[in-house]
Amino acid sequence: MADPKKLYIRTYGCQMNVYDSERMAEAMGGAGYVGTDRPEEADMILLNTCHIREKAAEKVYSELGRLRSLKADNPDLKIGVAGCVAQAEGEEIMRRQPLVDLVVGPQSYHRLPQMEARVRAGETALDTDFPADDKFDTLRHRPKAKRGPTAFLTVQEGCDKFCAFCVVPYTRGSEVSRPASRVLEEARDLVERGVREITLLGQNVNAYHGAGEGGDWSLARLIWALDDIDGLERIRFTTSHPNDMTDDLIAAHGACAKLMPYLHLPVQSGSDRILKRMNRKHTAEGYIRLIERIRAARPDILISGDFITGFPEETEDDFQATLDLIEAVGYGQAFSFKYSTRPGTPAAERGQVDEDVKADRLHRLQDLITRQQRAVQDAMVGRTVGVLFEKPGRLPGQMVGKSDHLHAVHVADAGLGAGDLAQVEIVESGANSLAGRIVA
Ligand code: 5AD
Ligand code: SF4
Repeated sequence: MADPKKLYIRTYGCQMNVYDSERMAEAMGGAGYVGTDRPEEADMILLNTCHIREKAAEKVYSELGRLRSLKADNPDLKIGVAGCVAQAEGEEIMRRQPLVDLVVGPQSYHRLPQMEARVRAGETALDTDFPADDKFDTLRHRPKAKRGPTAFLTVQEGCDKFCAFCVVPYTRGSEVSRPASRVLEEARDLVERGVREITLLGQNVNAYHGAGEGGDWSLARLIWALDDIDGLERIRFTTSHPNDMTDDLIAAHGACAKLMPYLHLPVQSGSDRILKRMNRKHTAEGYIRLIERIRAARPDILISGDFITGFPEETEDDFQATLDLIEAVGYGQAFSFKYSTRPGTPAAERGQVDEDVKADRLHRLQDLITRQQRAVQDAMVGRTVGVLFEKPGRLPGQMVGKSDHLHAVHVADAGLGAGDLAQVEIVESGANSLAGRIVA
């Protein structure tokens, strides 16, 4: 038998791309490919790309430039661009970078094997359709390989919110939820393969409304059904929109022991004027009240957020309102970005803020967030929390894992292996992680 062909996938951007890359590897497994982490030995290289900000999109072209020498060494090497840049730029990619053989959007990757065959026959292949057939369906017959203790599971894709800065509604399309039975089937399969923690993914995951027994299910209903799966110990979900934080989901945070005390709830800005211009459809006050209700249900929940500095027409006062909101909420984690003009989005047409002003505000915002993050992390010392161990640490006998609140935790001489869950008393707060000792 001929050696299997080798596939190298490089993943950029969000967790959904990580999930999609796994699915692409599985689809190509059916076409005789095995994965490799060495691009120089690959027969096919796929870049699974991100279009959310200009920098992310430009990375693809510089990476393609670097791949030119590999293709010169190995003329049989096939190069493909997948993900959101593929969706947004399509054929333009092949025009700009003729070494690209294949372009596949996020909704068509189940067709990769057929595309690969065309490419092997010397053609190019482009598919950025939003096909009616369900890509998840064709990916059901996958190998039963053993998995690590944590996994992502896409339950919802796309977005109908149209925030004025964001390309997602264009690259990922409108909101679609997978049927509950399919999600549960995939979750059971993951658990059989060793997974103990599942993070449910969706661009608007809390807007989930998948078909289920008795009608459409909410995300909370889905979480309660997952709660029944023996062997599944932890449930997380990301990313959420404030306006979709329904009462049943808030209540689940207080009542469902497997639902972890961590919530990523982006607000983007603390200025009502800017929120309105962003088309966020909520106010700063509304967001702060919402956080209060969530904390009433689960007092120790760690709140995480996303922020944009220098959105068009943002003034110093608007920015100050964002800092005030951050002070009011107290974040345990946050991601922040300078506004990046995205062609085709409404905000791209408006009065832009100077780059150095955006950068200065980002810097000040990150200073504040870093202090809050630090305080939240330090406050874990003395507490006992659950830790799911994922891998050995750098020191002999040491194990590292994630706490319930998603802090990295390391334990010396744990005497435990990957996939073990233990109660750990936190004894020290370091630069980027906590140290603990096992109590149970
Ligand atoms: N510029 C900067 N940040 C952006 N985000 C989305 N679009 C843009 C943009 N054009 C950020 C938002 C979002 C996160 C995933 O990326 O904060 O929540
Ligand atoms: Fe983009 Fe807004 Fe949709 Fe999030 S909710 S994906 S920021 S449009």
